[in-house]
Amino acid sequence: MGLIKLQAAAKINPFLQIVAERPDGYHDLAMILHSIGLWDTIDLETSNSLELYCNLPELPTDRSNLAIKAALLLQENFPDRGGVKITLNKQIPVGAGLAGGSADCAAVLVGLNQLWELNLSPMELQTYGAKLGSDIPFCVVGGACLAEGRGEILTPLQPLEGWTILVCKQRNLSISTAWAYQTFRSGRLIEQPTGQTISNILGAFNSPPSQLAPLLFNDLERVVLPNYPAIDQLKLALLEFGAIASLMSGSGAAVFAVVENTDRGDEIAGKITDRFPDVDTWVTKPIGWGVRIVS
Ligand code: C5P
Repeated sequence: MGLIKLQAAAKINPFLQIVAERPDGYHDLAMILHSIGLWDTIDLETSNSLELYCNLPELPTDRSNLAIKAALLLQENFPDRGGVKITLNKQIPVGAGLAGGSADCAAVLVGLNQLWELNLSPMELQTYGAKLGSDIPFCVVGGACLAEGRGEILTPLQPLEGWTILVCKQRNLSISTAWAYQTFRSGRLIEQPTGQTISNILGAFNSPPSQLAPLLFNDLERVVLPNYPAIDQLKLALLEFGAIASLMSGSGAAVFAVVENTDRGDEIAGKITDRFPDVDTWVTKPIGWGVRIVS
């Protein structure tokens, strides 16, 4: 009997630009992803069957869960390896644009590679991940990356140092990623360029936060904020309370702020929860990994 414990990190998007509509319904992106120190824990245990247990009762544990999809995909390709019992302890909020489900999926791929002695390279794990979702190849490697294509063509970047990030999410608000992209497409927003370019932020990527902050950008804010004014209010409140910058992560509903240090982050988080009692907050740091095998 084998047991592997893993941590699967959330991500934020310091930059997300939609550069083209693709015939397959997806969009070509120019995007920066960065892992942050907020993670789910995943235990994998050899078993005869495939089972998933989760601390959140509202989360499906059937074949619609990306963690199960990852195990099924590897089982299909390595049918002699048997099953696995997956125990998922979720800390990353769901429907937040923080890639929580993608991170769990990546952790199952990385963990089963070891548990089932599959000997797959990181690139092969990323290729399996890309079959299951656009953010999963990044979650396998983590740290900081430029992502192009659907999000699966990755170029590593030097992880940010000296940054403190305050993540905020309205507890009962989740946003569908498919809805955000489809609303962007049906609004023909691609024909109304914003003048933002990824080269500006890439050129300044490891500069101090105050220099990088004005270059943070997310095209999906253009559809999500008008439809969810509460997210816009949260963004504005973060700036009012002294954040260096604030931006929606991915397709939302989470917003992240760049703050000077942990004390300042705690102080701003306190003001946010005073004004918005239904908002959860996390003060954290950018990190250099996506999936970590703990034992
Ligand atoms: O790949 P994933 O399943 O995470 O994507 C969720 C949804 O987001 C897709 O169904 C698609 O509508 C949209 N999407 C997109 N272009 C991307 C990534 C995601 O349109 N590059």
